[in-house]
Amino acid sequence: MGRDRVVLVGMMGSGKSTVAALLGRETGWPVRELDDDVEARLGKTVARVFAEDGEPSFRHAESVALAEALDASPVVVSTGGGVVEDADNRRAIARAGALVVWLDAGDETLLERVGSSDARPLLADDAPSSLRRLREGREAWYREVADVRIDTAGRTPEVVARLVLEALEDRR
Ligand code: S3P
Repeated sequence: MGRDRVVLVGMMGSGKSTVAALLGRETGWPVRELDDDVEARLGKTVARVFAEDGEPSFRHAESVALAEALDASPVVVSTGGGVVEDADNRRAIARAGALVVWLDAGDETLLERVGSSDARPLLADDAPSSLRRLREGREAWYREVADVRIDTAGRTPEVVARLVLEALEDRR
């Protein structure tokens, strides 16, 4: 029953949103994109929430969005990269009994994918060192919450989605 939920975690640029959309199409399950939910709730972009209200406001709205998303079944949940920083979020993910997939790639690949994006306030200053610092802080948490880690470097989103579906089959 919990396996009617898939939660994608991982750093910015790891491909969560693209893969979630493909999974939604393949399974027919609804997709919850937590950044979109936060934007809808607060009526502004993530970048503006950070700039005008501060990161704690964003994190609070993100936790509410996560709890709501995990209430649904079936569902594919695409999280923001920082969702694992909060212990309550990690517990909520564990309790949901979802298949939790950590999408990963090396920093160079991530930077290529997000490089010119000014939609990601945490990378606004010195993106390479910010990314490295964030990864160092988060890697153990991604490992803690995830059932499966998939390296997305050099793989198309379609291939990654296929691997997620196989993992889902294996665990049902
Ligand atoms: C963040 C990742 C972003 C977004 C926000 C903060 C992070 O989502 O939630 O900018 O802390 O890593 P993506 O991982 O979808 O880029």
